[in-house]
Amino acid sequence: MPPPLLMANWKMNLTVAESCKLAHAIARSCGSCGKSRESRQSAQIVLLPSFTALDAVARIASRVKTLSVGSQDCFWEERGAFTGEESVRTLQELGATFVLIGHSERRQLQNESNEAIRKKVEFVSNTKTVTPVLCIGESHAQKVSGKRKSILQQQLLSAFKGLLQTPLSREIVIAYEPIWAIGTGVSATASDCATIYTYLRGLLENAWGMDAVNRYCRIIYGGSVSEANIADFVAKGVSDGALIGGASLTAPGFCAIIKRVSNSV
Ligand code: PGA
Repeated sequence: MPPPLLMANWKMNLTVAESCKLAHAIARSCGSCGKSRESRQSAQIVLLPSFTALDAVARIASRVKTLSVGSQDCFWEERGAFTGEESVRTLQELGATFVLIGHSERRQLQNESNEAIRKKVEFVSNTKTVTPVLCIGESHAQKVSGKRKSILQQQLLSAFKGLLQTPLSREIVIAYEPIWAIGTGVSATASDCATIYTYLRGLLENAWGMDAVNRYCRIIYGGSVSEANIADFVAKGVSDGALIGGASLTAPGFCAIIKRVSNSV
Protein backbone atom coordinates (compact mmCIF):
# COMPACT_ATOMS: atom_id res chain seq x y z
CA MET A 1 0.00 0.00 0.00
CA PRO A 2 1.54 3.35 -0.97
CA PRO A 3 1.26 6.11 1.64
CA PRO A 4 -1.69 8.53 1.31
CA LEU A 5 -1.22 11.08 -1.46
CA LEU A 6 -1.78 14.70 -0.40
CA MET A 7 -1.73 17.15 -3.29
CA ALA A 8 -1.64 20.91 -2.71
CA ASN A 9 -3.34 22.71 -5.59
CA TRP A 10 -2.23 26.32 -5.31
CA LYS A 11 -4.08 27.33 -8.48
CA MET A 12 -3.25 30.96 -9.47
CA ASN A 13 -3.12 32.25 -5.90
CA LEU A 14 0.57 32.82 -5.25
CA THR A 15 3.49 34.71 -6.79
CA VAL A 16 6.83 32.95 -7.20
CA ALA A 17 8.14 34.53 -3.99
CA GLU A 18 4.99 33.54 -2.07
CA SER A 19 5.14 30.00 -3.46
CA CYS A 20 8.77 29.65 -2.33
CA LYS A 21 7.96 30.95 1.13
CA LEU A 22 5.12 28.47 1.53
CA ALA A 23 7.19 25.61 0.08
CA HIS A 24 10.01 26.36 2.53
CA ALA A 25 7.60 26.30 5.48
CA ILE A 26 6.04 23.02 4.33
CA ALA A 27 9.47 21.50 3.68
CA ARG A 28 10.60 22.45 7.17
CA SER A 29 7.54 20.86 8.69
CA CYS A 30 7.78 17.69 6.56
CA GLY A 31 11.50 17.44 7.27
CA SER A 32 10.86 17.31 11.00
CA CYS A 33 8.02 14.76 10.54
CA GLY A 34 10.42 12.62 8.51
CA LYS A 35 13.08 12.64 11.22
CA SER A 36 10.77 11.34 13.89
CA ARG A 37 9.40 8.61 11.62
CA GLU A 38 12.44 7.41 9.80
CA SER A 39 11.30 3.89 9.09
CA ARG A 40 8.17 4.65 7.08
CA GLN A 41 6.80 7.34 4.92
CA SER A 42 3.48 8.49 6.35
CA ALA A 43 2.28 10.62 3.43
CA GLN A 44 3.38 11.45 -0.08
CA ILE A 45 3.06 15.21 -0.53
CA VAL A 46 2.89 16.85 -3.93
CA LEU A 47 2.95 20.62 -4.38
CA LEU A 48 1.24 21.99 -7.49
CA PRO A 49 2.43 25.56 -7.99
CA SER A 50 1.84 27.71 -11.08
CA PHE A 51 4.08 26.99 -14.11
CA THR A 52 6.26 29.99 -13.34
CA ALA A 53 6.95 28.87 -9.76
CA LEU A 54 7.52 25.20 -10.58
CA ASP A 55 11.29 25.39 -10.99
CA ALA A 56 11.91 27.22 -7.71
CA VAL A 57 9.43 25.10 -5.73
CA ALA A 58 10.89 21.87 -7.17
CA ARG A 59 14.36 22.87 -5.88
CA ILE A 60 12.96 23.40 -2.39
CA ALA A 61 10.95 20.16 -2.47
CA SER A 62 13.95 18.15 -3.63
CA ARG A 63 15.51 18.53 -0.16
CA VAL A 64 12.77 16.49 1.53
CA LYS A 65 12.12 12.82 0.73
CA THR A 66 8.34 12.96 1.12
CA LEU A 67 7.88 16.09 -1.04
CA SER A 68 7.59 16.31 -4.79
CA VAL A 69 6.04 18.66 -7.32
CA GLY A 70 3.56 18.51 -10.14
CA SER A 71 1.93 20.76 -12.66
CA GLN A 72 -1.66 22.03 -12.79
CA ASP A 73 -1.95 21.35 -16.52
CA CYS A 74 0.01 20.42 -19.66
CA PHE A 75 -0.39 20.19 -23.44
CA TRP A 76 -0.80 17.03 -25.50
CA GLU A 77 1.96 17.55 -28.08
CA GLU A 78 5.66 17.17 -27.50
CA ARG A 79 6.61 20.51 -29.06
CA GLY A 80 5.53 22.95 -31.75
CA ALA A 81 3.50 26.04 -32.54
CA PHE A 82 1.18 26.04 -29.52
CA THR A 83 1.35 29.56 -28.15
CA GLY A 84 0.94 29.81 -24.41
CA GLU A 85 0.98 26.06 -23.78
CA GLU A 86 3.46 24.09 -21.67
CA SER A 87 5.00 20.81 -22.80
CA VAL A 88 5.35 17.74 -20.62
CA ARG A 89 9.05 17.65 -21.58
CA THR A 90 9.56 21.03 -19.96
CA LEU A 91 7.56 20.04 -16.89
CA GLN A 92 9.72 16.92 -16.52
CA GLU A 93 12.84 19.01 -16.93
CA LEU A 94 11.68 21.19 -14.03
CA GLY A 95 11.06 18.15 -11.84
CA ALA A 96 7.31 17.56 -12.14
CA THR A 97 6.31 13.96 -11.48
CA PHE A 98 2.52 14.50 -11.50
CA VAL A 99 0.24 16.53 -13.71
CA LEU A 100 -3.38 17.48 -13.10
CA ILE A 101 -5.61 16.96 -16.10
CA GLY A 102 -9.16 18.19 -16.55
CA HIS A 103 -9.63 20.16 -13.35
CA SER A 104 -13.22 21.44 -13.28
CA GLU A 105 -12.00 25.05 -13.36
CA ARG A 106 -10.30 24.32 -16.68
CA ARG A 107 -13.33 22.44 -17.98
CA GLN A 108 -15.56 25.39 -17.07
CA LEU A 109 -13.39 28.47 -17.64
CA GLN A 110 -11.22 27.24 -20.53
CA ASN A 111 -13.96 25.12 -22.07
CA GLU A 112 -11.66 22.12 -21.87
CA SER A 113 -13.45 19.23 -23.57
CA ASN A 114 -13.42 15.50 -22.80
CA GLU A 115 -11.55 15.09 -26.08
CA ALA A 116 -8.78 17.52 -25.07
CA ILE A 117 -8.57 15.77 -21.71
CA ARG A 118 -8.29 12.37 -23.40
CA LYS A 119 -5.36 13.61 -25.50
CA LYS A 120 -3.59 14.94 -22.41
CA VAL A 121 -4.14 11.73 -20.43
CA GLU A 122 -2.78 9.64 -23.31
CA PHE A 123 0.21 11.88 -23.86
CA VAL A 124 1.18 11.93 -20.20
CA SER A 125 0.58 8.17 -19.81
CA ASN A 126 3.07 7.52 -22.60
CA THR A 127 5.83 9.45 -20.84
CA LYS A 128 6.11 6.81 -18.06
CA THR A 129 7.79 9.20 -15.59
CA VAL A 130 4.91 11.63 -15.02
CA THR A 131 1.73 10.39 -13.36
CA PRO A 132 -1.54 11.72 -14.77
CA VAL A 133 -4.08 12.90 -12.18
CA LEU A 134 -7.42 12.89 -13.95
CA CYS A 135 -9.98 15.18 -12.29
CA ILE A 136 -13.64 14.29 -12.63
CA GLY A 137 -16.74 15.53 -10.87
CA GLU A 138 -20.39 16.44 -11.29
CA SER A 139 -22.13 19.79 -10.84
CA HIS A 140 -24.83 20.34 -8.24
CA ALA A 141 -27.52 20.31 -10.96
CA GLN A 142 -26.23 16.98 -12.31
CA LYS A 143 -26.20 15.54 -8.81
CA VAL A 144 -29.76 16.53 -7.94
CA SER A 145 -31.09 15.39 -11.30
CA GLY A 146 -29.69 11.90 -10.68
CA LYS A 147 -27.13 12.12 -13.50
CA ARG A 148 -24.09 11.88 -11.30
CA LYS A 149 -22.98 8.36 -12.18
CA SER A 150 -23.55 8.78 -15.90
CA ILE A 151 -21.56 12.05 -15.93
CA LEU A 152 -18.68 10.47 -14.02
CA GLN A 153 -18.75 7.43 -16.27
CA GLN A 154 -18.58 9.63 -19.35
CA GLN A 155 -15.70 11.70 -17.97
CA LEU A 156 -13.75 8.66 -16.82
CA LEU A 157 -14.19 6.40 -19.83
CA SER A 158 -13.68 9.14 -22.40
CA ALA A 159 -10.43 10.20 -20.73
CA PHE A 160 -9.06 6.64 -20.74
CA LYS A 161 -10.60 5.64 -24.09
CA GLY A 162 -7.27 5.09 -25.86
CA LEU A 163 -5.79 3.14 -22.94
CA LEU A 164 -8.61 0.77 -22.05
CA GLN A 165 -7.76 -1.83 -24.72
CA THR A 166 -4.24 -2.43 -23.45
CA PRO A 167 -3.19 -3.79 -20.04
CA LEU A 168 -2.56 -1.14 -17.42
CA SER A 169 1.07 -1.12 -16.34
CA ARG A 170 1.66 2.32 -14.87
CA GLU A 171 0.33 4.44 -12.06
CA ILE A 172 -2.70 6.63 -12.62
CA VAL A 173 -4.57 8.82 -10.16
CA ILE A 174 -8.21 9.80 -10.32
CA ALA A 175 -9.28 12.84 -8.33
CA TYR A 176 -13.00 12.77 -7.60
CA GLU A 177 -13.89 16.42 -7.10
CA PRO A 178 -17.59 17.25 -7.06
CA ILE A 179 -17.84 20.77 -8.49
CA TRP A 180 -20.32 21.80 -5.80
CA ALA A 181 -17.75 20.99 -3.11
CA ILE A 182 -14.83 22.96 -4.56
CA GLY A 183 -14.12 26.12 -2.58
CA THR A 184 -17.58 26.11 -0.99
CA GLY A 185 -16.80 24.81 2.49
CA VAL A 186 -19.29 21.97 1.88
CA SER A 187 -17.50 18.70 1.26
CA ALA A 188 -18.95 15.41 0.12
CA THR A 189 -19.41 12.82 2.85
CA ALA A 190 -17.09 9.87 3.24
CA SER A 191 -19.92 7.39 2.70
CA ASP A 192 -20.98 9.20 -0.45
CA CYS A 193 -17.41 9.01 -1.72
CA ALA A 194 -17.16 5.32 -0.85
CA THR A 195 -20.18 4.61 -3.07
CA ILE A 196 -18.70 6.63 -5.91
CA TYR A 197 -15.30 4.94 -5.62
CA THR A 198 -16.87 1.49 -5.77
CA TYR A 199 -18.66 2.55 -8.92
CA LEU A 200 -15.52 4.05 -10.51
CA ARG A 201 -13.39 1.04 -9.56
CA GLY A 202 -15.98 -1.25 -11.13
CA LEU A 203 -15.75 0.65 -14.41
CA LEU A 204 -11.96 0.45 -14.42
CA GLU A 205 -11.92 -3.22 -13.39
CA ASN A 206 -14.16 -4.06 -16.34
CA ALA A 207 -11.40 -2.84 -18.60
CA TRP A 208 -8.18 -3.59 -16.76
CA GLY A 209 -9.07 -6.25 -14.18
CA MET A 210 -9.08 -6.04 -10.40
CA ASP A 211 -5.39 -6.80 -9.87
CA ALA A 212 -4.17 -4.04 -12.18
CA VAL A 213 -6.63 -1.53 -10.71
CA ASN A 214 -5.58 -2.40 -7.15
CA ARG A 215 -1.95 -2.12 -8.09
CA TYR A 216 -1.89 0.99 -10.26
CA CYS A 217 -4.99 3.15 -9.66
CA ARG A 218 -5.40 5.53 -6.77
CA ILE A 219 -8.61 7.47 -6.19
CA ILE A 220 -8.33 10.65 -4.17
CA TYR A 221 -10.95 13.13 -3.02
CA GLY A 222 -11.02 16.91 -3.54
CA GLY A 223 -13.47 19.64 -2.53
CA SER A 224 -13.29 21.69 0.68
CA VAL A 225 -10.84 19.33 2.37
CA SER A 226 -9.62 20.75 5.68
CA GLU A 227 -7.96 19.72 8.91
CA ALA A 228 -11.45 19.12 10.30
CA ASN A 229 -12.54 16.57 7.68
CA ILE A 230 -9.33 15.01 6.28
CA ALA A 231 -9.59 12.11 8.72
CA ASP A 232 -13.02 11.17 7.32
CA PHE A 233 -11.55 10.63 3.87
CA VAL A 234 -7.92 9.65 4.15
CA ALA A 235 -7.18 8.49 7.66
CA LYS A 236 -10.06 6.01 7.62
CA GLY A 237 -8.87 4.63 4.30
CA VAL A 238 -11.91 5.72 2.28
CA SER A 239 -9.73 7.72 -0.14
CA ASP A 240 -6.15 7.07 -1.23
CA GLY A 241 -5.43 10.74 -0.68
CA ALA A 242 -6.75 14.25 -1.19
CA LEU A 243 -6.47 17.18 -3.57
CA ILE A 244 -6.47 20.28 -1.44
CA GLY A 245 -7.00 23.83 -2.66
CA GLY A 246 -7.82 26.59 -0.17
CA ALA A 247 -6.52 24.74 2.89
CA SER A 248 -3.11 24.23 1.25
CA LEU A 249 -2.44 27.95 0.92
CA THR A 250 -1.07 28.47 4.41
CA ALA A 251 1.69 26.44 6.02
CA PRO A 252 -0.14 25.93 9.35
CA GLY A 253 -3.33 24.84 7.54
CA PHE A 254 -1.64 22.39 5.19
CA CYS A 255 0.80 21.06 7.79
CA ALA A 256 -2.11 20.39 10.16
CA ILE A 257 -3.67 18.22 7.43
CA ILE A 258 -0.38 16.39 6.87
CA LYS A 259 -0.03 15.81 10.60
CA ARG A 260 -3.55 14.40 10.92
CA VAL A 261 -2.82 11.92 8.16
CA SER A 262 0.67 11.07 9.44
CA ASN A 263 -0.61 10.37 12.94
CA SER A 264 -3.19 7.97 11.66
CA VAL A 265 -1.18 5.68 9.36
P1 PGA B 1 -10.72 23.40 -2.42
O1 PGA B 1 -10.19 23.12 -3.91
O2 PGA B 1 -9.95 22.50 -1.50
O3 PGA B 1 -10.44 24.86 -2.17
O4 PGA B 1 -12.18 23.10 -2.40
C1 PGA B 1 -9.91 21.83 -4.35
C2 PGA B 1 -9.53 21.85 -5.82
O5 PGA B 1 -10.10 22.63 -6.58
O6 PGA B 1 -8.66 21.08 -6.25
